[in-house]
Amino acid sequence: MKKIEGFSKLTKQQKIDWLCETYFSDDKQAHSYFEKYHNADENLQKLHDEFIENAISNYYLPFAIAPNFVINGKTYTVPMVIEESSVVAAASRAAKFWESRGGFKAEVISTEKNGQVHFMFYGEKTDLECFFTKIKPKMLADAQVITANMEKRGGGITDIRLVDKTSELANYYQLFATFETLDAMGANFINSCLESFSQTFRQEAVNFPEIDENYEIVMSILSNYVPECLVRVEVSCPTERLAVANLDGKEFAEKFVRAIAIANAEVRRATTHNKGIMNGIDSVILATGNDFRAVEAGVHAYAARSGKYQSLTQAFVEDDVFHFKIEVPLAVGTVGGLTNLHPLVKTALQILEKPSAKELMQIAATVGLAQNFAAVSSLITLGIQRGHMKMHLMNILNQLGANDAQKQYITEYFKDKTLTYRDVSAVLESVRHLN
Ligand code: MEV
Repeated sequence: MKKIEGFSKLTKQQKIDWLCETYFSDDKQAHSYFEKYHNADENLQKLHDEFIENAISNYYLPFAIAPNFVINGKTYTVPMVIEESSVVAAASRAAKFWESRGGFKAEVISTEKNGQVHFMFYGEKTDLECFFTKIKPKMLADAQVITANMEKRGGGITDIRLVDKTSELANYYQLFATFETLDAMGANFINSCLESFSQTFRQEAVNFPEIDENYEIVMSILSNYVPECLVRVEVSCPTERLAVANLDGKEFAEKFVRAIAIANAEVRRATTHNKGIMNGIDSVILATGNDFRAVEAGVHAYAARSGKYQSLTQAFVEDDVFHFKIEVPLAVGTVGGLTNLHPLVKTALQILEKPSAKELMQIAATVGLAQNFAAVSSLITLGIQRGHMKMHLMNILNQLGANDAQKQYITEYFKDKTLTYRDVSAVLESVRHLN
């Protein structure tokens, strides 16, 4: 009996009971999992339960630290939330590498966010233009109740304009609004302003028959495409300082530049290349309570801005100096939303010494660049699997139920060997007697 009416009205315990009975043959064990992940601090548990509808448990991810990130001369200890084994180690390695080569140079280029009222208009364009010019001051005035506080702090609505999109879709127009939301991500603020614009539009249209009979507002929503909320980070050093493993510095730089050229030329490589960058960015975004889906959507759209999906990072050599940089749009906040609510998010922001949103843009983009440097460096030298599987070893051992003594023996055993799941499993069987 898998269909259920009124699930959201059940108590949390009833929801768990129903799930355990419906989906688990050993319903005692299933209950015990949910109980284990229930926080003993009831207030904390309630806080988490109230983030979303139908919460029945907590889902833990590791909260890790990547130290020694030098950005614009300041050293950051970066909190990262991610499940993938090798990401934090790679970020830390890249941070250390660049620390002794001048560190990361970051710059916020712009901080403008945007949203649209999407509507259809079937009348004369000149009538619409005239109507828009008349009601624009009223739209701004009516939104004052929403914008007053933001304006006091120096932000608010920066512009509203009428955009003709009829060449892309018949009768389609937009009210295109731009915003400065300071240290807030600003999603609620922007959406409230846009809905207020729609309301003013409707109210005013009543007095203009040439408009009133000819429009349909379809939706009012912020855009997660924020190419005007942009941050750039770069590193550089003489190529001779890049010597690693089996390559001298010049060879390494040439190979690295070629690897980036491939990511620019080939969408399949670009996707994986950018995924590696997002390993770094997302883990900072998650640790600081920001919306990683918004960031992901915006970043990938930006990667395709030329009409072709390409690398978010660029590399080149000039006068024997290797340059490597990233440019990404990041709409993030360090106030509002989860930042004031989730205790670990507050802790993460404290570790970052309470950054502004601009500073957080720089930190997240830096970790993305570092991650890409680490990944591409591995790929063009020893390959990715060696490091990856080493980090993954503990997951394999946990899966196979190894104890501490067995883990220690096997970690040592595979120190200088390439490992596979099968080999680990075979060696573990031979040392099952260790305690
Ligand atoms: C794995 O999570 C990320 C990489 O595949 C990124 C890359 O290939 O550049 C290693």
